[in-house]
Amino acid sequence: MSFVIAIDGPAASGKGTVARRLAEYYKLPHLDTGLLYRATACALIDEGLPLEDAVAAEEAARGLSLSDFDPDRLRSREIGEASSVVASIPAVRAALIEMQQNFAARPEGAVLDGRDIGTVICPNALVKIFVTASAEARAQRRALELAGQGEPADYKNILDDVRKRDARDSERKTAPLKQAHDAILIDTTELDKDAVFAKALRIVEQRRS
Ligand code: CDP
Repeated sequence: MSFVIAIDGPAASGKGTVARRLAEYYKLPHLDTGLLYRATACALIDEGLPLEDAVAAEEAARGLSLSDFDPDRLRSREIGEASSVVASIPAVRAALIEMQQNFAARPEGAVLDGRDIGTVICPNALVKIFVTASAEARAQRRALELAGQGEPADYKNILDDVRKRDARDSERKTAPLKQAHDAILIDTTELDKDAVFAKALRIVEQRRS
């Protein structure tokens, strides 16, 4: 089994941070798969098309090149919301599977984070971690993050977004957000980034030995 680390979890759970740190530690390539759905949504918005247009969304997903998009815009609140709408279109998910699986198939291994990595994209990953936290803690973090990027960040609105996105991501029919049966859970509500990383590292080392 190659060295693939699959990290899943809901919005602002801290999965991206722990994925980045694990990738750095093990010198593995890292793919933040949320960016693919964010970029697909961005492409539709830029063309003035509705997010529910499945044909256009699939086309955008197939022709995607992440370097065409401004990273700050991709991470904005508007695009976060929009991305979960396009992510519920089965043809969009199908269009993005192959490139994610190719990324995971690199000989040295890889770290991927998202919603369906342990369940759909890399069901045979050596390590699967599901990162979560209370909706309130996640909204607080996202508000701080957005404020840091100079975006207006009203906690109540963000908590609303987080709950809406959790519901949309968990209730969709294709590849819903859920913990794989063999994933290990880290609840980050009461943990800082270093403590989360330490826990994740222990999990990876246990799986490798
Ligand atoms: O950073 P945050 O957790 O807020 O979101 P993200 O990981 O960038 O993902 C944005 C949206 O893309 C999510 O709300 C999901 O709807 C979708 N997504 C997905 O469906 N499957 C993935 N593997 C990754 C993201």
